[in-house]
Amino acid sequence: MSLKQKLQTYFELGAAVSAKNLEDTGAASLLKEESSLITAENEMKPMFILDHAQSLENLKTDGAPGCDFTMARKYLDYAKKHKLKLRAHTLVWHNQTPRWFFAKDYSDLEDAPLVHRETMLFRMEAFIRDYMTFVYKEYPGLVYAWDVCNEAVADDASVRKSLWTQTLGEDYCFKAFEFAKRYNSEDALLFYNDYSSFVPKKRDFILDNILKPLMEHNLVDGMGMQTHLLMDSDLGLYEEALKIYGETGLTLHVTELDIHTPGDDPAHQQALLEKYSELFGIYKRAVEEKTAKLEAVIFWGIRDEDSWLTEFRKEASFPLLFAGDYKRKAIYDQLEGEL
Ligand code: GLA
Repeated sequence: MSLKQKLQTYFELGAAVSAKNLEDTGAASLLKEESSLITAENEMKPMFILDHAQSLENLKTDGAPGCDFTMARKYLDYAKKHKLKLRAHTLVWHNQTPRWFFAKDYSDLEDAPLVHRETMLFRMEAFIRDYMTFVYKEYPGLVYAWDVCNEAVADDASVRKSLWTQTLGEDYCFKAFEFAKRYNSEDALLFYNDYSSFVPKKRDFILDNILKPLMEHNLVDGMGMQTHLLMDSDLGLYEEALKIYGETGLTLHVTELDIHTPGDDPAHQQALLEKYSELFGIYKRAVEEKTAKLEAVIFWGIRDEDSWLTEFRKEASFPLLFAGDYKRKAIYDQLEGEL
């Protein structure tokens, strides 16, 4: 039995998909069996949508940023063809967003002066409006959730300093949700998404300074816990965070699950199996005991070979449940047996 079937009464399963995966038939057949949700690993982020030449051209008229949805279309078409639901990741982020988007006259000179709040509010609204309008007009019913704002909180539990705070100001995440809510014509779920969001200091800052103000204005539907874990990540704290986020009544999605595992030998893979088994036990318990409205668990990547962790951790990582020719790893069947 697949994990998708086994867990279907609890939550949906999904995976981040790379541009290379889109070309591989093995990926399509695997996703059919194992997933109902996909996220574009990169190609739906601002740097792949924002179009510099068109933005410069638009300065002659209203000055809205230009968008090119060619890359996004690949994922939208793929999701449609393979009957998968797509997570739109992400609208507003400090990373993978070009500096010129924040610069006066969209200048791409390294030291070009940045725009002020009014201009950046206008650009943010236009970007969100045009992105959402495109998706809803051309692909109705396909996107189930938007990661409206990604990683607005720094590790020391403060608003992360970035080109967003320098131009628009510290309330940029709140503003992003105001605009997303305004143009969300299909009522897809609107998410705040962050990593290490189970660490108490960061968790409490997210709750008090991001989620609660948004909830007071009915602007947010869900909390995305990225869940890039290490072997020694504290799952006690993780379970506590699920409960605490759960108490808000928001929908919870695990948006980017992986567990860094620096070896594919039996000992490392046994440790990985145990960690996933404990984690999925926590997820099932949260649903059974109704401590959290946990509705989706999405792996960050399909196969070990696709994982970003090898580059990021600077050592080979084997953190997922599939490998090679889109085949189940040995630990897959053991995990399925345990759940
Ligand atoms: C963050 C982002 C993802 C991705 C990962 C690394 O978690 O939200 O889009 O970039 O980092 O791959």
